[in-house]
Amino acid sequence: MRTRTIGSIEVSAVGFGAMGFSHGYGPSVGEDEAINLIRQPHELGCTFFDTAEGYGAGHNERLLGRALAPIRDKVVIATKFVIPSAADEADLNRQIRQHLDTSLKRLGTDRIDLYYQHRNPGSIPVEAVARVMGELIGEGRIRGWGQSQVSEGKVRRAHAVTPVTAVQSEYSMMERMFEADVIPACGELGIGFVPFSPLSSGFLSGKYHPEQTYTGDDVRRVITRFTPENMRANQPLLELLCGCAENKGSTPAQIALAWMLHKYDYLVPIPGMRSLDRISENLGAAEITLTGDEFERIEARLADIARLANMK
Ligand SMILES: NC(=O)c1ccc[n+]([C@@H]2O[C@H](COP(=O)([O-])OP(=O)(O)OC[C@H]3O[C@@H](n4cnc5c(N)ncnc54)[C@H](OP(=O)(O)O)[C@@H]3O)[C@@H](O)[C@H]2O)c1
Repeated sequence: MRTRTIGSIEVSAVGFGAMGFSHGYGPSVGEDEAINLIRQPHELGCTFFDTAEGYGAGHNERLLGRALAPIRDKVVIATKFVIPSAADEADLNRQIRQHLDTSLKRLGTDRIDLYYQHRNPGSIPVEAVARVMGELIGEGRIRGWGQSQVSEGKVRRAHAVTPVTAVQSEYSMMERMFEADVIPACGELGIGFVPFSPLSSGFLSGKYHPEQTYTGDDVRRVITRFTPENMRANQPLLELLCGCAENKGSTPAQIALAWMLHKYDYLVPIPGMRSLDRISENLGAAEITLTGDEFERIEARLADIARLANMK
């Protein structure tokens, strides 16, 4: 697979989000099957794997660690920590190190390649987090660090203290708010941008229908874009994707990913997928190249769709 550089770390152009095996998308497959599935992306050239301490309260890190153990040195592992509050900077430093030690143990590795602060509570200055990250990079315990769902201001402030490797935030054809500020700022500062939910929780694959029901902890039970009414209203987006996919001999999900890969060369999406078919479909997006004209036609149609939606 083609590769891209985020910050200074080289990864495959499309990565793999492991969250669904432990959290957020309803009942998952058994442990052995999950391990087998998590190993498949690497066979197809994927070298970038994403997890977090919070996914299934450590379950996802343990699973990923077991799955990737035989190929640890060939892949880039990203995980995330959450610290709700800290008394002062020394306390923050101590807490982050504690979380890091626990994640390393669960992942069965001696270093994290990309360590994100999952959310930044307003009470903890990003500069203080950046200073701890700088120390950990210096000690070789992490290779790079990142932020998630942050504002442009917080990215710039943090980057001025310790260069940020990547920002991971929600981005897809349906969620474009960071196009206005954070994504261009990442481009300007040499920071990678890693979209999560790049397929809008699967909606952009066109394989879900308005009457579908979701069970357990599946976020689609509460995400408003999955209500039958909104799914129907958003059909023009799927028509656009289906039309492009037919012309390119690809699938709607692949076009949705190829569109963002074309738009920003410092972006690496991490779709979540739990079947061999979906893994090979989504990773296959890295091989689809849109022409300038194809891309512009998609952009123009997306702008039309957004305008019509705003008029309602
Ligand atoms: N930083 C953060 O706050 C944050 C938040 C959310 C997620 N993340 C990370 O980002 C990763 C990706 O997010 P996401 O899982 O929401 O991404 P997503 O790919 O937009 O959505 C995943 C859902 O779409 C389905 N899907 C994916 N590809 C499909 C295809 N080709 N055809 C049909 N259905 C398809 C998956 O089904 P199956 O799984 O059933 O195959 C799953 O239900 C996560 O795994 C996690 O690592 C980070």
